[in-house]
Amino acid sequence: MTFSDDEIKERLEKYGTVYLPKEIVETIDDILGNEEIKERLEDFFSSLKKYSEIVEKLKKTKLVPNLTVLLYGPPGTGKTSLTRAYAKKFNIPVCVVESDRLVSALLGDTVKNIRKVVELAANIAEENGAFILFFDEIDAVASERSNVHEVGEIKRAVISFLQIIDKINYFGTPLAIFGATNHQDQLDSAIWRRFTFHLKFDFPDFRLRKAIIESFIKKISDAKIGVDDSILKNLDAEFELINLKAENLKSLMVKDNAIKSLSALWTDKEIIENGGVLYTTKGYTGADLERGIRVALFKALKNDVLTYENFLRSLELVGGTKIHVEQQYYLSATKRMNSNNKNFIKRGKENLQMPREI
Ligand SMILES: Nc1ncnc2c1ncn2[C@@H]1O[C@H](COP(=O)(O)OP(=O)(O)O)[C@@H](O)[C@H]1O
Ligand SMILES: [Mg+2]
Repeated sequence: MTFSDDEIKERLEKYGTVYLPKEIVETIDDILGNEEIKERLEDFFSSLKKYSEIVEKLKKTKLVPNLTVLLYGPPGTGKTSLTRAYAKKFNIPVCVVESDRLVSALLGDTVKNIRKVVELAANIAEENGAFILFFDEIDAVASERSNVHEVGEIKRAVISFLQIIDKINYFGTPLAIFGATNHQDQLDSAIWRRFTFHLKFDFPDFRLRKAIIESFIKKISDAKIGVDDSILKNLDAEFELINLKAENLKSLMVKDNAIKSLSALWTDKEIIENGGVLYTTKGYTGADLERGIRVALFKALKNDVLTYENFLRSLELVGGTKIHVEQQYYLSATKRMNSNNKNFIKRGKENLQMPREI
C-alpha cells in the first residue's frame, strides 16, 4: 500500500512541511559555488534513490549504512535550498521539520515527538520508497543551551533518536535524515559524530559574490527591467583590483610563512577607497545579496532603470549576516568557557576556529 500525496502531507503536517518534488521550485544551478558539497550530495542522493538495490551489498561490508547528513554554516548560505533542489532532481519528497516545534516543556514529550515523526517518515519510506526528513535548526533539540538541568537527558534523547535511525537504515528503510544548524559550536559532540556526512556551508568569497550578483542582475534584465551598464562594468573593474591584490597576497604568503591571513586584503587602501559592491558585501550571505537586490529592484521599478549608485546603496542598507554571527559566536564562546564545560574543552579547537577570510 503506498501513501497518496495528500496522505503523506496529512500524516506529517503536525511536525513540518512536506515538499513534493513537483512542488519544489529551486534547482541546483540556482545555488552557485559549493562544488564539493554538490558532489557529495549528488553521490548521496543517487545512493538513496537506489537504496533498496544496494542495501544487501552494503550489509556485506559490515559497515552499517547510516543515511545521515549534517549541514552546518551561517543562515542564508543555501542549506535548505540545495537540499530541496536535490530532492527535486532525484524525485524524492522531503519533509522540513521545524525542530523547535518538537521541543516541549515536558521533556518526555520532546522524545515522544521525535520518535513519532521518525516513525511516520520511516513508514512512508517503507511503503513509497526514498524519503527525507530534514530537521531545520537541529540545535534546538540537540544542543546544550536548551536547559542546563536537562542537558544529560536531552542528549540521551537525541542519541536514542539517532539509534532509531541506525536501526531503520539497517533494515533497509530508505529514510534519510538531514540536520541543519547555524550553531555548530553548540551542537553536542556526540551528536556531531553520529552524522555520517558533515557538509560545511560558508560565506561566499568575493569571487562567488560576484557570480551571485551577476546571476541576479541577469534575472532582472531578462525580465526586461533596465539595468545600467555601469553596474557590470564597475563590478568587473572592482573584481580585477581585488583579485590582483589577492593573488599578490597569496604569493607573499607562500614566500613568508609569517603572513597567514588574507584579511590584509580588506585593509588595503585602494580597495577601501574604491568601496564598491564587492567590498561592501564582505560578510554577506547569498540570502543577504538577494535581499539587497530586491530592495534595489523596487528603486529600479520606480525609476525604470537600476543604477550602480542605487544598487550599492541598497546593498549597504540590508547589511550582512557575518557581523551577527560573530557577535553570537563570541557570546557563546565566553559563556561556555566560563561554565567550564567539558565538551567545550574537548572540542575547543574546533569551536574556536573563526570563519575563514572572505
Ligand atoms: N551560493 C548561493 N548562490 C545563489 N543564491 C544563494 C546562495 N546561497 C544562498 N542563496 C540565496 O539565499 C536563499 C536562502 O538560502 P537558504 O537555503 O534558505 O539558506 P539556509 O538554509 O542556509 O539558511 C536561497 O534561496 C538563494 O536565493
Ligand atoms: Mg534554512
